[in-house]
Amino acid sequence: MAILKIARMGHPVLARPADPVADPTAPEIRQLVADMVETMIDAPGQGLAAPQVHVPLRVAVFLTPPEGPEGRRQLVTLVNPRWVPLAEGQDRAWEGCLSVPGLRGLVPRYSRIAYEGILPDGSRISREVEGWHARVVQHELDHLDGILYPQRMTDLKDLIFETEFKHRAAPSAQELNE
Ligand code: NI
Repeated sequence: MAILKIARMGHPVLARPADPVADPTAPEIRQLVADMVETMIDAPGQGLAAPQVHVPLRVAVFLTPPEGPEGRRQLVTLVNPRWVPLAEGQDRAWEGCLSVPGLRGLVPRYSRIAYEGILPDGSRISREVEGWHARVVQHELDHLDGILYPQRMTDLKDLIFETEFKHRAAPSAQELNE
């Protein structure tokens, strides 16, 4: 296991579409996923895509929002994922990104989506989700297409420094840092 260096906005690896993984069950993909999880937890962040650690492959890991009475969070790994919106509706919420350190932005995202991908054991995952879970997936999978959250914003007045966040909104338990 290793903590990997995180690429920051401006590095070309964050601006190009990532390549599909030929063999999702390959040992090097398993190793990459293990290192990405360690890097995400160390950061700390709630999600990480392979291009953020300078690996231009379609792999992402993220934590689901707390679910159930015990508020458990699930770690999801997606290889070669895809997603589609399930409805036109979007909502806006504050996001951060490990590749855009120190900033927050108010980002519109589809409220309901379906996503699918392959797990490192070769099985397939397919889900319909909404709210925060849907937002995290859209943020992470955008990384695989070379898109950072400021590119999804409609008003750059809502791109601010974290240290000034107190002027804009009540602190939220669910701020993204991906
Ligand atoms: Ni991010």
